Amino acid sequence: MGGMMWVFAVFILSVYETWSLDTGSPQSTLMRNTSSSTPKVYVVRNESFILGSNVSLTCSNESASKIMYVLWNIKLKSGPCRIAHNNDGQSEDSCNDGKSLRNTSTTMYLHIPNFSNDDVGIYLCETVYTGGADNHNISVDIIAPPSESAWLEWKGNKMVAVCKAERGKPAANISWSHLENSSSSKTWLGSDGFFTVESRLELPENMDSKNLSCTIRHQYWEEEKTLVPKLKGQSGEHKGPNITLIYILTVVISIAVLAGILFLAQKKLTILRCSKQADTSPSKPLPTAEDVEEVEPYASYVQRVNSIYNS
Ligand SMILES: *[C@@H]1O[C@H](CO)[C@@H](O)[C@H](O)[C@H]1NC(C)=O
Ligand SMILES: *[C@@H]1O[C@H](CO)[C@@H](O)[C@H](O)[C@H]1NC(C)=O
Ligand SMILES: *[C@@H]1O[C@H](CO)[C@@H](O)[C@H](O)[C@H]1NC(C)=O
Ligand SMILES: *[C@@H]1O[C@H](CO)[C@@H](O)[C@H](O)[C@H]1NC(C)=O
Ligand SMILES: *[C@@H]1O[C@H](CO)[C@@H](O)[C@H](O)[C@H]1NC(C)=O
Repeated sequence: MGGMMWVFAVFILSVYETWSLDTGSPQSTLMRNTSSSTPKVYVVRNESFILGSNVSLTCSNESASKIMYVLWNIKLKSGPCRIAHNNDGQSEDSCNDGKSLRNTSTTMYLHIPNFSNDDVGIYLCETVYTGGADNHNISVDIIAPPSESAWLEWKGNKMVAVCKAERGKPAANISWSHLENSSSSKTWLGSDGFFTVESRLELPENMDSKNLSCTIRHQYWEEEKTLVPKLKGQSGEHKGPNITLIYILTVVISIAVLAGILFLAQKKLTILRCSKQADTSPSKPLPTAEDVEEVEPYASYVQRVNSIYNS
């Protein structure tokens, strides 16, 4: 009875603790029968890979021909999944995200194409080969470069220099060429798992900001990046719309003035023509239909005025 209970307990344990690395007993792993004399290797390690790279994750140095069984249990943010392969040619893939087991001439590895933040997680792997087993627990992280920017802005009547490194991983490091210890730095962790770092430096009055620069360091870059903050807001972004507005206003006013001048000129011409026609009314040719509408009132007016003066 006690033996039965024990076996049952081991079974439950093995289901839940398949990957528990601190249990060294052979019963703690499913799907294999290794005697206690079998050598085992447990490895715990951290790895970081560059965004967009193709990653090869190895779990054992044994040659592929000796490998009987490989199982990757992967704990991603999106949830757990597993990829397995045995030497009978059976395989399993519940990840369905492009990860695959591949062979080199020397060993078998997990291939992760186009490494992204979705691939960050804990990778537990077990390789069973003739003569032993390897267990690896790999914490996989990403190295992604931040996008950098720097500017000056007014805070009340004080000038503040700001330097920002957005959405990088790990968090970037920002330092200033001057007044380093009066700067304050903030780091946010975005919901996407990337870090944004912003460093603000309040400038003393009458300080020349020309020589001030900030330096951003990140693992992804071979060299640090140095930025010189420039004033935006007052002279930068706000000037743009104002200038366009002035241009538009100038154009509109010019057109209005031109139209006005043209209108007046035409009116004057018409009046001139009419008064001329009135003077020479006997020889006046018959007005066209269009002329009648516009010209007639003036003509009659002018004629009437003339007749008053004439009498
Ligand atoms: C495990 O393998 C050994 C020999 O390698 C064998 O004696 C034993 O009965 C096996 N146990 C199980 C549960 O299959
Ligand atoms: C790798 O090679 C071994 C032996 O050569 C073979 O049994 C196995 O199926 C191969 N695995 C893959 C994923 O191609
Ligand atoms: C890698 O992934 C990114 C986004 O997930 C995509 O924009 C890019 O085209 C991919 N590159 C390759 C080579 O597949
Ligand atoms: C900045 O730190 C240096 C040494 O660490 C110190 O001598 C200096 O007084 C500090 N300046 C300010 C403004 O705190
Ligand atoms: C700026 O740098 C130049 C040369 O690097 C130096 O001559 C000048 O004194 C500096 N100005 C300020 C305000 O630090």
